[in-house]
Amino acid sequence: AFMKKSMAHVVQSAEVHRDPLEESYIYQEKLGELNEQMRMIGLTEGDLRLLKQLRPQMELRMEAITDAFYQSVVDVDKLRDIIVQHSTIERLKQTLKDHLLEIFNGEINEAYVEKRLRIAEVHKRVGLETKWYLSAFQNLQNEFFKIIYKEVKEEEQQIRVVSTITKLLGLEQQLLLE
Ligand code: HEM
Repeated sequence: AFMKKSMAHVVQSAEVHRDPLEESYIYQEKLGELNEQMRMIGLTEGDLRLLKQLRPQMELRMEAITDAFYQSVVDVDKLRDIIVQHSTIERLKQTLKDHLLEIFNGEINEAYVEKRLRIAEVHKRVGLETKWYLSAFQNLQNEFFKIIYKEVKEEEQQIRVVSTITKLLGLEQQLLLE
């Protein structure tokens, strides 16, 4: 009975709200699937609330996170070439900072999904291969976890935060690799 109840909670919670009149059939399907993805990874309203609480701390650390991220990226010649050809490190760093902070708004809606699908298109256009995207992503996750282990003292809370951020970063990858 407990399992049933908690699953029902997950199902009802983090749902994307949609406007059936405005969106295309394919887009509707994507949103429907996103709800299933969120249910499958066990993303709840509680996770979204926790992310919101973490936002101020994360905002303070975003500079360090994105510095480490871009350092690792420019160390790979191929990736540095892509960046200088299409943009600048400074510009992308600011974009990435804003982007990552959005995760901590704790709101997953149509705009959130749409934006990520668009970024996937941008990356496709500049020729970023999946293996590099995933490597960069792992680097990002390492930085997040380093900060959490330093800032969150209590073990149980550490586990909760790591679990929540893992889910969100997972969702991010699911959207960006679609
Ligand atoms: C653009 C996020 C990895 C290269 C962007 C944008 C975001 C973003 C938010 C802005 C899209 C827009 O609205 O215009 C991410 C995230 C990554 C990632 C979350 C991984 C965790 C990488 C890597 C490269 C890269 C590894 C290495 C080449 C670019 C380039 C653009 C871009 C060149 C700009 C393209 C343009 O403006 O024409 N990315 N990115 N990204 N990204 Fe990434």
